[in-house]
Amino acid sequence: MSALVQLKNVSKTFDVSAPWLNRVIERKPQTFLHAVSEVSFNINRGETLALVGESGCGKSTVARLTVGLYETSTGQVIIDGHDMKASNQGTDAARAMRRKVQMIFQDPYASLNPRWRVADIVAEPIRTHTLIPDGPQLDKRVAELLGLVKLTAKDGEKYPHQFSGGQRQRISIARALASNPEFLICDEPTSALDVSVQAQVLNLMKDLQREMGLTYLFISHNLQVVHHIADRVGVMYLGRIVEIGDKDEVFGAPKHPYTRMLLDAIPDLHMTGKARTPVAGEVPNPLNPPSGCAFNPRCPKKFEPCDKTRPQLVSFAGRQVACHAATG
Ligand SMILES: Nc1ncnc2c1ncn2[C@@H]1O[C@H](COP(=O)(O)OP(=O)(O)O)[C@@H](O)[C@H]1O
Ligand SMILES: [Mg+2]
Repeated sequence: MSALVQLKNVSKTFDVSAPWLNRVIERKPQTFLHAVSEVSFNINRGETLALVGESGCGKSTVARLTVGLYETSTGQVIIDGHDMKASNQGTDAARAMRRKVQMIFQDPYASLNPRWRVADIVAEPIRTHTLIPDGPQLDKRVAELLGLVKLTAKDGEKYPHQFSGGQRQRISIARALASNPEFLICDEPTSALDVSVQAQVLNLMKDLQREMGLTYLFISHNLQVVHHIADRVGVMYLGRIVEIGDKDEVFGAPKHPYTRMLLDAIPDLHMTGKARTPVAGEVPNPLNPPSGCAFNPRCPKKFEPCDKTRPQLVSFAGRQVACHAATG
């Protein structure tokens, strides 16, 4: 299998300084927030990589960097051999790249234009990329896309507010599929939905992936959702990947204490009746990160080097872990 998506040492810093004049008057230095630091991963064609971690760990920033909504501060995003930096240029190659990569957001209320009929919402990417001219052929394609997400051509006549949350998210999926993408970035796509509806949307996404050979970067703070959908899992903490590997290995035998903490907090996936332990502590302020390993103030395995040196990601039989206490 070949990697369709590659992130190479990607970092993103935001300038969160006070306005210039205040800074000068109050003699404050510029302030930078390191939202994402040195993130690298590959996603093979047809595969789902899920990123998990508590709120504020940098997951959405990685999503936006990957789709090209943010430029990287350092590092590269390469999709199908092309650097995403070039995707904002007006060339044909840039347009072709943008067509191949689509994003689905958490909130289907905010991401669907309330004034447009669903058929026009779904047709928009087709018109933008001039894939099919207006007319019966376009109507047929829109009906086909609505069918793919288990809606009908008649639903195309309605407006977003006439649908439930789950249906609305399916409209977002139909629109994302309209440009025949190869790669979908899904940022908490089911987090706003009820649990039963979540499962339906996840199953639909899995079916579409199988039928169309889609590749997913799937972002969620919910480990059960990730367990359902992912092939591989990356765990993020304060802007860095602390553990990444095959789902079964990461879930079955977590090596990073943070991964273990997240797993211990969810209802038992295998129903062994093990008691759950709530997640203790909070993610530190990224403007004032702890020295050494960012997880050390919360870590039950903390020992001498942990607040002094930051652990590098080290490979253990196909998995990578950044922890001084991790052993093979
Ligand atoms: N546009 C921005 N400007 C400044 N800070 C940001 C911006 N976007 C995200 N951040 C900060 O970057 C960190 C990571 O945020 P985010 O990627 O949204 O995390 P997650 O999706 O895991 O909750 C947070 O501390 C957040 O406040
Ligand atoms: Mg987010």
